[in-house]
Amino acid sequence: MATAPIRFGIWALVHGPRAAHQDPEEPYDASWERNRDLILAAEELGYDSTLIAQHTINPHQEDLDQLEAWSAAAALAALTKRIEIIAAIKPYLYHPVVLAKLALGIENISRGRFAINLVNAWNRPELDKAGIGFPEHDARYAYGREWISVVSRLMEGERLTYTGEHFNVRDYALRPTSLYRKRPLIYVGGESEPARSLVASHGDVWFINGQPLEDVAGLIANVATRSREGAAPLRFGLSAFVIARETREQAEAAHERLLNLAAKDAPMKAVEKQNTDPKVVMMQTMQKTPRVGSNGGTAAGLVGSYDEVAERIEAFHAAGIELFMLQFQPFEAEMRRFAREVMPRVRGRQSAGSADGRTRSLG
Ligand SMILES: Cc1cc2nc3c(=O)[nH]c(=O)nc-3n(C[C@H](O)[C@H](O)[C@H](O)COP(=O)(O)O)c2cc1C
Repeated sequence: MATAPIRFGIWALVHGPRAAHQDPEEPYDASWERNRDLILAAEELGYDSTLIAQHTINPHQEDLDQLEAWSAAAALAALTKRIEIIAAIKPYLYHPVVLAKLALGIENISRGRFAINLVNAWNRPELDKAGIGFPEHDARYAYGREWISVVSRLMEGERLTYTGEHFNVRDYALRPTSLYRKRPLIYVGGESEPARSLVASHGDVWFINGQPLEDVAGLIANVATRSREGAAPLRFGLSAFVIARETREQAEAAHERLLNLAAKDAPMKAVEKQNTDPKVVMMQTMQKTPRVGSNGGTAAGLVGSYDEVAERIEAFHAAGIELFMLQFQPFEAEMRRFAREVMPRVRGRQSAGSADGRTRSLG
């Protein structure tokens, strides 16, 4: 199966810096204005997608600002023209009827560029302190599975009657549906067995945390072969933190700088660890390699010279990754550098590769 052409996206800065909080080059700023300017610039630079993480309270330190994902997604939908807008969602926070209605609204404001990223929560206080409670890992996934089946059918315009363990929806139909396609796309982020089963049955794209190529290839092989009941083949995205420089030595020095700065966040990380459900597989994966960045960060190995980073991106693409959801620090400057130095190298390698392929097949 051929992988779709490579797309690059950026994580919105909904809770400030991704690698280290005490960085003089990246003052804390999770404001709407900063995110708006960042994403408009990304669109201009040729990025194809943005992921807006959802947290009602800052998961690193509760008294820090946290951008609200869904209102920001709606505003970005109106301001941008081309970029895909993905907003994360934790099922317990929204009734599925309300969420499906919101998603269809943003789908139509964006003219068919909206997607949801279904995530099943790891930060206990966010739900617990709201009085919602924090059911155990697999029970959260069982709830999420029921929730997405309702959301998905309503987004498709079905007049739905559904009775399950958690929801009881009668004769409900949302109008208008998407004016541009069947429905907004459904991404799923999560690595555990129930996450894999959920994405195989209900997802369009699986978001994998940044990790070495062999591990990513193993995860893709594990999920790609599962039955999908007539749906289109599953697609794959990868989260990764990029440090690209003229030379590998310069990139490694920049990584070292961020690792040293990140060490100063130890007290914050200790609180975060206490708040995290120990069963969340994502967090266990992220303990394996020293790294900076969230959701795997530099563990994906996109640290090196411009050519090395381009080459590794191409290798991930050959393994099945279509969308690279990227983090940088300092974000704006490094996002620009990546667009200037790495994107053209990736495109160049790809067109050289396909020209080779053509020559070979003609020969
Ligand atoms: C690309 C990606 C984005 C994520 N975004 C969020 C988010 O916005 N909010 C959140 O609470 N968790 C987010 N998560 C974390 C999931 O909630 C986490 O993976 C979940 O707890 C599932 O755990 P599991 O790995 O055990 O399946 C994200 C995960 C991935 C891979």
